[in-house]
Amino acid sequence: MRDLRNVATAMVRTLAGVEPEGRLARFVDLALAGELPVGSEDLPALYEQVLAKLAPDARKARGVYTTPPELVDFVVRSADQLLRDEELGLTGIADHRAVVLDPACGGGAFLLAARSAGVLPTRLFGFEIDPQAARLAAGLSAATVVAGNPLAGPELGERFVERVKRQALLGGAVPVVLGNPPFRGHSANPAKRGAERTWIARLVDLYKVQEPELRLPGQAKWLQDDYVKFLRFGQWLVELGGTGVLCFVTNHAWIDNPTFRGLRKSLLRTFDRLVVLDLHGNENRKEQVPSAHRDALGTRDEGVFAIRQGTAVVALARVSQARRGPRTIVHGDLWGTRERKLATLGDPRAALSWTTVTPAAPAHLFVPVDDRSSREYARLWPLADFFEAEPAPGAVTTHDRFAIALDEEELEARIGAFLEEPDEAAARLRWRLCRQSQWSWRDARAALATGAWRSTVGPILHRPFDERVTAWDRHVTVHRRARLHDHVLGRRNVVLLTVRALETAIPWEHVFVTSLPIQHHTLSMKEVTYAWPLYRYGADGSRTAQISQRALEAFEAATGLHAGEGRGDLENDFGPEDVLAWLYAVLWSRPYRERYDSLLRRGFPRVPTPGDRAQLRTVAAIGQHLVAAHLGGLGEVPEDGPDESDLAFTIGGRRVLQRFLEDRPDADEAAIAVRVGAIRRTRALQQSLDAAARVLVEAAR
Ligand SMILES: C[S@@+](CC[C@H](N)C(=O)[O-])C[C@H]1O[C@@H](n2cnc3c(N)ncnc32)[C@H](O)[C@@H]1O
Repeated sequence: MRDLRNVATAMVRTLAGVEPEGRLARFVDLALAGELPVGSEDLPALYEQVLAKLAPDARKARGVYTTPPELVDFVVRSADQLLRDEELGLTGIADHRAVVLDPACGGGAFLLAARSAGVLPTRLFGFEIDPQAARLAAGLSAATVVAGNPLAGPELGERFVERVKRQALLGGAVPVVLGNPPFRGHSANPAKRGAERTWIARLVDLYKVQEPELRLPGQAKWLQDDYVKFLRFGQWLVELGGTGVLCFVTNHAWIDNPTFRGLRKSLLRTFDRLVVLDLHGNENRKEQVPSAHRDALGTRDEGVFAIRQGTAVVALARVSQARRGPRTIVHGDLWGTRERKLATLGDPRAALSWTTVTPAAPAHLFVPVDDRSSREYARLWPLADFFEAEPAPGAVTTHDRFAIALDEEELEARIGAFLEEPDEAAARLRWRLCRQSQWSWRDARAALATGAWRSTVGPILHRPFDERVTAWDRHVTVHRRARLHDHVLGRRNVVLLTVRALETAIPWEHVFVTSLPIQHHTLSMKEVTYAWPLYRYGADGSRTAQISQRALEAFEAATGLHAGEGRGDLENDFGPEDVLAWLYAVLWSRPYRERYDSLLRRGFPRVPTPGDRAQLRTVAAIGQHLVAAHLGGLGEVPEDGPDESDLAFTIGGRRVLQRFLEDRPDADEAAIAVRVGAIRRTRALQQSLDAAARVLVEAAR
């Protein structure tokens, strides 16, 4: 690699005399003429290095990251093995019936490896959006490479399948789609062109069928990643071909993240053999080798190539209807250093250990789960079943620097400064203003100049224990989320906050309560915060509790208490506020969090219902205290200042008190004392919960 980097630097120097637009073409000419000091197998990687220097933005925008040769070999070997499977019945990838396509082939790394594995050029195809990379790939591998974007419409894919079918005349051809398509959260292949959804977006919509949550605003954005589009494209091709094999390097998020449940279900319908090797190395999640393997591997877990996301290899096969047997799904993990991972991937004899998995409703996870605790957890109630309505995501200001202030005075001064700034570019730079089409600098200036925004100023929970102010005016806070806002602002309410899944490796501790509107990231930097208000208000000011009938009945049955309103005495009756207190206490209890950590991070939490009256009484009483402490209504405040452990106290992975103090160097003593008091009280209440919750966990076994 180091050598290649040096060669690339030297190349770029040599190309300095050529017109900028002609440099890549010149590089490819030299490469194909054999005039570069590296072997042909290294030329695709060298191309990436040169592109990174000559056109770094294009490289990033197209997700051009060369696949290490060991990983390329592993993908080609995986395809080879699936083809040898009894049901497909080929002799492997070199069989004359296999027709191979890399739909994002870059400089041709996979095409070259397929050639080495015996695939003839007549059966080898590539698509590539970058014409120079396409030319290099074609020249190196002798494959037919089309410079184009296969996601733009069905034409390129259909042409390939026609080619496969022509081969079928010679007897049962099988499409083999493989490669390392780009990963890119903000896809360059948009979901819409004008008002129309694009062809590939309509195909990806299949993953949202029967997934009502994904139709809520902002929920399906991870399905827009390019790797998902390529996966969908490959699946479509195999379906079009009738049978086939699909082997890709992908981001590993889809394996167990709730957003991809529809995708997993769809893959289960299309394919008969599913092999998933999780290569981990997710820097965003700060992944580490799990404790069970640390003696052998140490703690360090690294990515296999130069990206921050964790990766996986997925190898899928679809057999003909006639040969269809029971479906098999296996999962493996590869942990450790990059060097170790590549050595394992590159060695055909390396023993990987596979576990058969049976993805079960509702999540259809493609990972093995600890059977005992997962069976137990599956018996608990989804949080949503305790409530009448769907949870609401927090408000998106789209520009916190502008919209969120420590107090009204600061907001007033800021909007004043905004109105005085005549230059849009300067204003944008200063407050990092919204770039979405729903907001315009010009309209905002005109509207805010009227002063009407002043009557909309109100509080917002910025982070746990950190209330701030905003103007609830769409020129300031762009997406207000009426679903929550209208039931909390100026109302008496308690709102339970949590997240739907965790993307980071920090422990699950993502719960809080508030009586205020919230932000998208109130509870955590990465995950969206969702709110379940206890009450909803009608236009006439009347309120209805949002605890579901089903939950009230289950509590009545378990405790013999009668369901009433508000809070009960827990001798004769209980109310919706006791149910909320129960939920809150369970979610704060450490034995519960530890036991179900791996499951909590995969979706909204599941929570037990009380076993009997005594349990409800003990746990809900602690829950009431926690709610009171977190809403700020705590009587006792400590006299001393915060100590190390107060500062280290985290919610949602953030040191909440420390952040509060950092943002307010001159916070007054009383405000600090209330927060220190609440944190200490929380710790004490968690201790009282330990004993109670251990009973709960044991009862669930
Ligand atoms: C991760 S790189 C892999 C390249 C090559 N397979 C390798 O391993 O060296 C992804 C490739 O996809 C190409 N690409 C990005 N978007 C594309 C699109 N919509 N259609 C076809 N190719 C695309 C990029 O130019 C890049 O060459």
